[in-house]
Amino acid sequence: MILRRKRTAILVSGRGSNMRALVEAAQGPDFPAEICLVLSNRPDAPGLAFAKEKGLAVAVVDHKIHAGREEFERSMQVLLELHGIDLVCLAGFMRLLTPWFIGQWRGRLVNIHPALLPAYRGLHTHARALADGVKIHGCTVHFVVEAMDEGPIIAQAAVPVLDTDTPETLAARVLAQEHIIYPAALGHIAGGSYTVRGNRVLLGEPAAEPLPLLVPPVA
Ligand code: GAR
Repeated sequence: MILRRKRTAILVSGRGSNMRALVEAAQGPDFPAEICLVLSNRPDAPGLAFAKEKGLAVAVVDHKIHAGREEFERSMQVLLELHGIDLVCLAGFMRLLTPWFIGQWRGRLVNIHPALLPAYRGLHTHARALADGVKIHGCTVHFVVEAMDEGPIIAQAAVPVLDTDTPETLAARVLAQEHIIYPAALGHIAGGSYTVRGNRVLLGEPAAEPLPLLVPPVA
């Protein structure tokens, strides 16, 4: 039984196909997250139309009209707090976040990246994977930490790289997996069925406290 669904915001900058996958998953009655806000830094982000159609709360905080990164993030923070947000999902949100913002959301801020981290951090991941001749590529959902495209990995999916691949065909194969692992990862995080040990995220119910080891054992 779910006591309270986690109030989740999705941050987007563009097409929003991952946002769509998250919104559709959250329509399930037993999904432990509800999407309470879709926020974009770009007024023209194509993904916003879908969110509006779904009747979701949509907001734009245009980074271009803010004096700097932190001012921009403080405006986002006001909105996130106004909507009582518990969890933030970055879904193609193409702004680097400051340590201040990341600090506000530590352990509650997740990102999807189109590569098998820690390989191919940064941009143009598919073209770089092809240029390197790798045979396996993929995507990663991870908690966000200060270092870009680092942080404990929640979920990954791998796809084969085909001889005929272009960056576009490879991107499409990876994207199909993104749409599967991001909702699955959000389900675990929102449902609390995970444990973080250092850099490792163990999925499943949090382990019960191990019994104390007594020497000699008590009968
Ligand atoms: C996705 O492939 C996502 O992994 C990537 O941008 C795309 C957004 O597509 N994110 C990054 O590169 C973040 N570093 P979408 O708007 O259709 O979800």
